[in-house]
Amino acid sequence: MQIGNLDIVNPLFLAPMAGITDHPFRILCREMGAGVVFTEFVSANGIIRENMKTLELMKFTENERPIGIQLFGETPDIVGNSAKMVYDMLKPDIIDINYGCPVPKVTKKGAGSAALKDLCLMDDITQAVVEAVPEIPVTVKMRAGWDQNSLVSTEAGVRMEKIGVAAITLHPRTTKQQFSGMSNWKLIKELKDAVKIPVIGNGDVKTSEDYNKMKAETGCDGVMIGRAALGKPWIFNSLQKKSSEKFIIDPDIGQIINISRRHFVMLTEYYNNNLSVNLAKKHFNYYFKGFDGASFWRKQFMQIENTDEIFSLLEKMEKALASNLY
Ligand SMILES: Cc1cc2nc3c(=O)[nH]c(=O)nc-3n(C[C@H](O)[C@H](O)[C@H](O)COP(=O)(O)O)c2cc1C
Repeated sequence: MQIGNLDIVNPLFLAPMAGITDHPFRILCREMGAGVVFTEFVSANGIIRENMKTLELMKFTENERPIGIQLFGETPDIVGNSAKMVYDMLKPDIIDINYGCPVPKVTKKGAGSAALKDLCLMDDITQAVVEAVPEIPVTVKMRAGWDQNSLVSTEAGVRMEKIGVAAITLHPRTTKQQFSGMSNWKLIKELKDAVKIPVIGNGDVKTSEDYNKMKAETGCDGVMIGRAALGKPWIFNSLQKKSSEKFIIDPDIGQIINISRRHFVMLTEYYNNNLSVNLAKKHFNYYFKGFDGASFWRKQFMQIENTDEIFSLLEKMEKALASNLY
């Protein structure tokens, strides 16, 4: 698959997820089969103001490539200028524009999926970004439309292609739906039939059956995985059934503890102690599910306050599970 001038060897994408897809998580997903990763959505305003926290969200390392940085904002000038700044500072492989965020804090200003209510504004923002970063492909990620009475993904996709967007990711739920119901994969097929640029299907892919079904039903060029990767970075290998000594596809709890420990080590290397403990608690809630005693261990982790305690609780858990004691 080609996204502009970028050769994508493995068209399996880690979805941008706020508060989740930071550097440590992206590294784990890349190691476990994700072909392309994205940062979470980053505020164009924050970039222009050189807000330190915003700039931190975009840092990445060479072994994460190919990586896309996702931007959101409400005016062509701001989003375009921020894209140019990002390219000059970091040289990511892709700039992606967020036209999917349903959160009122974002949409009430006209950013995220609010652009689906004003396709002319969506055109102008996209045009500004395409012109600002001619060196790299610009992609967009969008929802189906604002509500069931305004499903605009196909029309918007055709307009995006004309402007020079190199690929489109479609999560075919409406803004009003948030995460309820199911994604309407028919709209992915409709978009795929309407444009020549690659279409990346997204929404509700959890198993290799879903993965194969989405590809067969929609003809999409790539698949993007969001929630199914939470606490399961190996999902990318599982979906492709990449099984060998090197590729973990169905880890047992001992292996999951090792993966979570490595995740935590990366968090401590990247963040201060407090933040790494809090983020570990969030990820561990996803990792430690679906085995006998899982909720007991999740509760233990929730009470933890410092990094040493996390390491010793992981060790305790390993020993207890090995001897069936908990
Ligand atoms: C916690 C969380 C944070 C998200 N943050 C973003 C984001 O920053 N940018 C974006 O385009 N989508 C975001 N999404 C939406 C996902 O990228 C994806 O489109 C959605 O979860 C549907 O895919 P899935 O069914 O594979 O999860 C987020 C989703 C979740 C669950």
